[in-house]
Amino acid sequence: MMPGILCRSAMNTFQKLRPLTNSKCNSTLIFGIETSCDDTGCAIINEEGNIIAESLKSQNLVHLRNGGIIPDVAQDLHRKYIEPTVTETLLKANLLMKDISAIAVTVKPGLPLSLAVGMKYAKHLARVNAKPIIPIHHMEAHALTVRMEHNVNFPYLVLLISGGHCLLAVVQNINKFLLLGKSIDMAPGELFDKIARRMKLRNVPELSTMCGGQAVETAALRATNPEMFNLPIPLVQVKDCNFSFNGLKTSVLYHLRKKEKEHKVVADALIPEISNLCCAALIATTKHLVHRTQRAMQFCSINNLIPENNKRLVVSGGVACNNYIFNALKAASVDYGYNVYRPSMKLCTDNGIMIAWNGLEKWRKNLDIMTNFNTLDLEATSQLGESLIDQVASAKIKTKIFKFQKAVQ
Ligand code: KG4
Ligand code: ZN
Repeated sequence: MMPGILCRSAMNTFQKLRPLTNSKCNSTLIFGIETSCDDTGCAIINEEGNIIAESLKSQNLVHLRNGGIIPDVAQDLHRKYIEPTVTETLLKANLLMKDISAIAVTVKPGLPLSLAVGMKYAKHLARVNAKPIIPIHHMEAHALTVRMEHNVNFPYLVLLISGGHCLLAVVQNINKFLLLGKSIDMAPGELFDKIARRMKLRNVPELSTMCGGQAVETAALRATNPEMFNLPIPLVQVKDCNFSFNGLKTSVLYHLRKKEKEHKVVADALIPEISNLCCAALIATTKHLVHRTQRAMQFCSINNLIPENNKRLVVSGGVACNNYIFNALKAASVDYGYNVYRPSMKLCTDNGIMIAWNGLEKWRKNLDIMTNFNTLDLEATSQLGESLIDQVASAKIKTKIFKFQKAVQ
């Protein structure tokens, strides 16, 4: 089915049902559905990329109580929320599913049990209402959302930092990515979530409802001695753009246990140096992210991957909400001539809007619009684009450690 044809028929249906004075009236309306991890998100956007309606049900508090995401629990909650979230979004927009041009849904990568809920529901809606499906790669959506709010043309460099991913890539087009580096173990959001849990930050009333990363950032702001714990920067000797956070986690836990012993901390109590330890973890994580990003900029320059007169770095994913990390990246990027962008906070974390936006960008270019989606399946893991990771390592680029602390604070 050609998008243009569907577009016009959707317009006719829409005009019959709604008064033309309704400013939301538009030929193309994309419905986005996101359920790759622990957020049930839906949104409708129009041809211009304006948000017509959105709805987001977060499972954060349940997972905080459970001490982490239990896939079965996440799936049960997605099942409970998916229909009300879809309905709420349509109601907010004053639209019916038949007014929608296409349904964009995350199919990879993510927790299989979570992905399955959104994908199956999208297929059901598409069948019942005779709509096409646009399958979406979650990380591509994170990488492209910035274009909704900023005039960022291709190509640009992107650093995606979330609870499940950490990667550097060149975005060459809507569906063309060059992967420069990725985490060899855990993601920075996962590190923050794990250390926050072990540090018992939940027991501090103001931090009790925050996700791990936000709790660590907030606690770090109260540090009295940021240099109390000197944590090693990961992979400083390895001349590639990959990331690693496992060693950092071990170091944080080592200092935590030592201090707990020293202060004879029991049960729900926290060590008195908690803010300083959070600050040290945040600084070491930031230095690592900045160091790899600097090398990616050097690699792009050597290989002409980013135009010299228009160098942009986009930071996205939940961890991009962190102001300390974002400001450090901005400060370090000055030397390389890069301007740094990030989507607004609510678009950095998981949401249905970024899925609808990615769907719209594909719709405009007539890419991946599936009218026959019976064989469409989810993928728990899925690389972002073509890997240049070996080429980056072979280039053996020397990268200085940026002294950002003074520049940022
Ligand atoms: O992108 P996202 O919503 O979900 C994934 O795809 O993973 O990111 C969630 C992650 C969590 O690990 C959370 O702790 C982290 O983003 N996060 C932060 C901040 N806000 C959320 N990390 C650091 N600083 C923050 N302010
Ligand atoms: Zn995400």
